[in-house]
Amino acid sequence: MRQNIVAGNWKMNNDLSQTEALITDMKRQTQTSDCEIMIAPTFPNLWHAFEALRLSNIEVIAQNMHYEDSGAFTGEVSGPMLRSVGITTVILGHSERRAYFKENDVLLAKKVDSALKNNIRVVFCFGEELEDRKAGQQETVVLDQIKNALLHLPMEAWKDIVLAYEPVWAIGTGETATPEQAQEMHAFIRQVLSDHYGEAVANNTSILYGGSVKPSNASEIFSKDDVDGGLIGGASLNAEDFFAIVNAF
Ligand code: PGA
Repeated sequence: MRQNIVAGNWKMNNDLSQTEALITDMKRQTQTSDCEIMIAPTFPNLWHAFEALRLSNIEVIAQNMHYEDSGAFTGEVSGPMLRSVGITTVILGHSERRAYFKENDVLLAKKVDSALKNNIRVVFCFGEELEDRKAGQQETVVLDQIKNALLHLPMEAWKDIVLAYEPVWAIGTGETATPEQAQEMHAFIRQVLSDHYGEAVANNTSILYGGSVKPSNASEIFSKDDVDGGLIGGASLNAEDFFAIVNAF
């Protein structure tokens, strides 16, 4: 059965001492829910975070990776490098990567393949822009994103895929999709998986919601049938807020 997951995406925040401080704060929090917890610090701090959380139930994950294992790609980090510091999950396709670094579905399909080849689980992000939603095109856009980057995968690959629906208009804006809008999209995505791979893959794949999730709205969003947790940006930078979300199930 699918897992509930709460993942904190720290984005380009927290230097080494801030990373240490936030992890110390997080270790003081109590988990009362039954969900997987992940945090994604920046590359320079991954090893430190991994070591600091080695004996905890918080998994340290990466925010991005390149599709080649090594080579002349200045500024990039590869799957084998992540594995070498203990990382076994990576976020791919975040809307900030798509918007600011021009990552498209073709590139993302290669990154997904490379992650899986390196035994790295993928948290795959997708979601429509505001104008898509205003035009009633949100399902078409999301379907394209999933189709182009993921539907070439064989059925058995899906045990290592977590989906994260993140409507771009709700990220970092304070604007949240209503729980009904989230549920509607998640149900649509599960139907797409069911049509393509069958019920088992559809039912076993965790689909997270992301976009301005905070302690005050998490439990309502997580109460929806097809919402299996959240990818949290801003609120993951505060240990109490993050654990309030973790405990919102
Ligand atoms: P936010 O970010 O929670 O700050 O809206 C979510 C995300 O980008 O994953």
